[in-house]
Amino acid sequence: MPLRLAVMLSGNGSTLQNLIDHVEDGALDARIVCVVSSRADAYGLERARKHGIPAIAVPRKDHSDAASFNAAIWRAVREHEAQAVALAGFMSLLQIPEDFVNRIVNVHPALIPAFSGHGMYGHHVHEAVLAYGAKISGATVHFVNEQYDNGPIILQESVPVLEDDTPDTLAERVMAKERELYPKALQLLAEDRLHTEGRCVRIRS
Ligand code: GAR
Repeated sequence: MPLRLAVMLSGNGSTLQNLIDHVEDGALDARIVCVVSSRADAYGLERARKHGIPAIAVPRKDHSDAASFNAAIWRAVREHEAQAVALAGFMSLLQIPEDFVNRIVNVHPALIPAFSGHGMYGHHVHEAVLAYGAKISGATVHFVNEQYDNGPIILQESVPVLEDDTPDTLAERVMAKERELYPKALQLLAEDRLHTEGRCVRIRS
């Protein structure tokens, strides 16, 4: 049975599109059962609808506190009987129910723990990498805990930072790596091959 996957996002949804493409190609043995957005105007919702995936807006600004926002988010996920969650540019901090510990995965456009944490998303990350003068960056897929970009690392690969890079050219190289690693990590989850010991994720052969 394919893994029943919910995707959470807040914006454009190119990460969602990549997952949809991998599912449709048969490279990812999952079914995307719903897409939940923390913004009503996220283009990712439109992408979901185009593929017949239930698209639900749970605007963060409609909720006065994190608890009621999280209750609404998890209600949507449970209504669609998701077994796991993929974050795809989801910009709010999640509260994690007990039964979803190590069932929520995120992709970050840098080599965690560098250039990560609160406020480090999208272009901010690539600007910070270039300003620091780092010679490599990369993509990280990790389990989500209740801190930004902090949970156990599943897959991580580097890309070079080139002398003449701009945030845009670096973002493009990192995004290509994200597109490769994220479906691969989710496929390992779908095959139940990820075993977590403390902070360390072992991949069963
Ligand atoms: C992706 O590059 C993802 O790595 C990043 O947000 C982008 C979402 O793009 N996530 C983070 O920075 C998490 N800290 P998208 O809306 O086009 O999918």
